[in-house]
Amino acid sequence: MLQALLSGLGRKGGTRGWAFSSWQPYLPLAGLLSATEVVSHWTAVFEKRGIPEAQASSEYIVAHVLGAKTFQSLRPVLRTQPLSPWQLQHVQKLSSCRLQRMPVQYILGEWDFQGLSLKMAPPVFIPRPETEELVEWVLKEVTQSSCPMGAQGGPLILEVGCGSGAISLSLLSQLPQSRVIAVDKGEAAICLTQENAQRLRLLDRIQIVPLDVTLEGSWSHLLPWGPMDLVVSNPPYIFHQDMEQLAPEIRRYRKNEARRGKMPGPRSCRGLARRLGLRPYSRLCCESSCSQTRAEN
Ligand SMILES: C[S@@+](CC[C@H](N)C(=O)[O-])C[C@H]1O[C@@H](n2cnc3c(N)ncnc32)[C@H](O)[C@@H]1O
Repeated sequence: MLQALLSGLGRKGGTRGWAFSSWQPYLPLAGLLSATEVVSHWTAVFEKRGIPEAQASSEYIVAHVLGAKTFQSLRPVLRTQPLSPWQLQHVQKLSSCRLQRMPVQYILGEWDFQGLSLKMAPPVFIPRPETEELVEWVLKEVTQSSCPMGAQGGPLILEVGCGSGAISLSLLSQLPQSRVIAVDKGEAAICLTQENAQRLRLLDRIQIVPLDVTLEGSWSHLLPWGPMDLVVSNPPYIFHQDMEQLAPEIRRYRKNEARRGKMPGPRSCRGLARRLGLRPYSRLCCESSCSQTRAEN
C-alpha cells in the first residue's frame, strides 16, 4: 500500500479483555475508567473489528479528547485519573468514526507536518511522512544553491497540487524570503490551503490559485507572476482502476483523488515548468511512485 494509514505510527500493544464489546451512550463506568483503561478498551474493540493501527488510533483519540497531541505526552496524572462522562462520550463518538474506517487525521481534524499544525478535512489528501523528505530536499536545494533566487532575495516557488497546503506552507515557514504560488484543481483543497495559510499567518506570501494544470493553456494564468525559481509537486498517484483494491480509509474518504485520463505526473510537471519559463538554475522537485513513473513513460 502506498500510504501507511497512520503514517507508520502503529504499534500493536497489549489489551485487556473487557466483558463488553462496545459502550452505550450513558456509561455506568463513567468516573471509574482511567485514560489508560479507555485506550486498552478501544484498542481491543478496534482489533476485534479489524481496524488497522488499533492501539495508535485509540491513543490518538483519547489524547485528543484530553487536550494533548499524543498519549505519550500526557502528564502521568491524566493517564491514571478517571475520565468524565463527557470525555468518555466524546471518545466514543470519535471512535465510532474510526470504526467506519475514517482516517485518524480526519477524525482529529488536524495533523502535524514539518512542525506545523495543519487542519485536515476529507476529501483533501493527508500529507505523508515521505513528503516531509521532499520538503527537506527542496530546502537543501535552496539553501545550498550558489545562484541567487528571486527578486526579493528568496525563491519564487510554484506548487502543483497543493492539497492541504502542507508543502507550500512548510516551505514558506522555513524560507522567510520566499513566495509561493499554490495551485490545485480541487475546490476543497484550495479552501483548506487558504484556511491553513490564514491559521499560520502566511497569507501575505502565498497566492492560492484554483487551476487544473492539464487543461490546455491553463499555465498561461501563471505567467504574470514571472519565471519560477522552483516547481515542487507531489502529484496524484492513485489510479482510478486501483481504487477498489485500496483500504476503506482511502476508498471511502478520498474518492475524488484518483487519477483519470490526463494526469499531472512528474512528466507533466516538467512540461508545465518549461512553459513557465524557468530560470537557467531553476529546480523541479517531484515526488513519484515507481508505478506512476512507469505509467508516464
Ligand atoms: C497526492 S495529492 C498531494 C497534496 C499535497 N501536495 C500533499 O503532498 O499533501 C495531489 C493533489 O493534486 C491535485 N490535482 C490532481 N490533479 C490536478 C490537476 N490536473 N491540476 C491541479 N491539481 C491537481 C489534487 O487535487 C491533490 O490535492
